[in-house]
Amino acid sequence: MKSNIQDTPLNKQLFGEDFIWGVSTAAVQIEGAHDTDGKGESIWDVFSAQKGKILKGHHHYVATDFYNRYQDDIDLIKQLNIPNFRFSIAWARILPDGTGKINQAGIDYYNRVVDYCLEQGVEPWLTLYHWDLPHKLEQQGGWTNRAIVNWFSEYVTVCANAFGDRVKHWMVMNEPAVFTGAGYFFGIHAPGRTGIKSFLPAIHHAVLCMAAGGRKLREILPNAIIGTTFSCSHIEPYSDGPRDVAAAVRVDALLNRLFIEPVLGLGYPLELTVLSGMEKYILPGDMDGVRFDFDFIGLQNYTREIVKYSFFTPYIHASLVKAEKRKVATTAMGWEVYPASIYHILKKYNQYPQIKKIYLTESGAAFADEVIDQKVDDPKRVAYLQEYLGQVLEAKNEGCKVDGYFIWTLTDNFEWAEGYNPRFGIIYVDFETQQRIVKSSGLWYAALLS
Ligand code: NOJ
Repeated sequence: MKSNIQDTPLNKQLFGEDFIWGVSTAAVQIEGAHDTDGKGESIWDVFSAQKGKILKGHHHYVATDFYNRYQDDIDLIKQLNIPNFRFSIAWARILPDGTGKINQAGIDYYNRVVDYCLEQGVEPWLTLYHWDLPHKLEQQGGWTNRAIVNWFSEYVTVCANAFGDRVKHWMVMNEPAVFTGAGYFFGIHAPGRTGIKSFLPAIHHAVLCMAAGGRKLREILPNAIIGTTFSCSHIEPYSDGPRDVAAAVRVDALLNRLFIEPVLGLGYPLELTVLSGMEKYILPGDMDGVRFDFDFIGLQNYTREIVKYSFFTPYIHASLVKAEKRKVATTAMGWEVYPASIYHILKKYNQYPQIKKIYLTESGAAFADEVIDQKVDDPKRVAYLQEYLGQVLEAKNEGCKVDGYFIWTLTDNFEWAEGYNPRFGIIYVDFETQQRIVKSSGLWYAALLS
């Protein structure tokens, strides 16, 4: 936190021999081929088709065509010296209706990806749920229907049986706070539902599924290394005033504690009034059922949030003071560039003795990139990554548990409701031609990992 790491050249040795280095992606954002080879519809396929949901009418039906170009992209991962590749499985490719009939072509596809990774010496890390619920399940209530615990367990079973002989590292779920909040409360992500009556059951069922998924993997694959990933932001009050300070405590509980604490056996932060009404979804025995002893926790941090008391914001009485208003440096997402956030996050989650290992399973930034003479120079992204990593090192040197770092993301891709505008990749993609150009940040990462 104290030092200015930016000028100190980083090298991977500083992080230790066992530190895991990688790059992360997600199926919807890269695969394309949304209806190819028997894949069923996902909630994102349906949402993308609705007018006004995705900026500029973009959709992910082609994305970066990873479905057809996975070999080239894995070759690039190898060329950039990146030893670990995190990607997700599209549930509806494996089980088009969510449950029941298995689509062998979907399994074959992920087998090809996993095998190609292994042939190239790249370790595959699988995320089971990165937000693309099969539409057929959404039609039955999706995350609001408690039956999802069985649906999800069936899906996890199929994946564990299909890929468990070769895949060692598993992540059950990606950022449950985001897919429940954006998808079931604010309606800005698929499936576009709104309101507390959708949000509360979605929260509880997601928590139940995280633990049930972990247990299922452990049962079928006793030697697997099993984790799950959470979004997290360092929170600070706008002022020292007691109302702002209390508002910051509430937002922290909502963004940083709500999903992890029940899994760790600490229960829900029920002091959050937004959760009043939650009891009716919690059945006897559930608070044992939501616990699972994960081998690792994935943390994903991009920025910090400044929080102010707000009488008019329902449920939480707090609002976020936008970075733009505060006139601080931001990424193309409008998120403050604040490297110390990752340091504070590591300090915070290190206070949970139940966590065995922490991997930073996403860290990265969107900036407007430009191709000049077939090159993409992205000094802002390089500085961002360098500074964030510097803070990771600082925390590690102060004794924090932190066992790995994955950049978000490999190539520019489909950034959900924001479409293709925010470019997060360390590899540039021309979405017309699908041409890839390694950015300076990609070369920087390759040099770090050489
Ligand atoms: C977190 C999500 O897991 C990922 O899908 C998304 O693209 C990045 N954050 C950037 O917003």
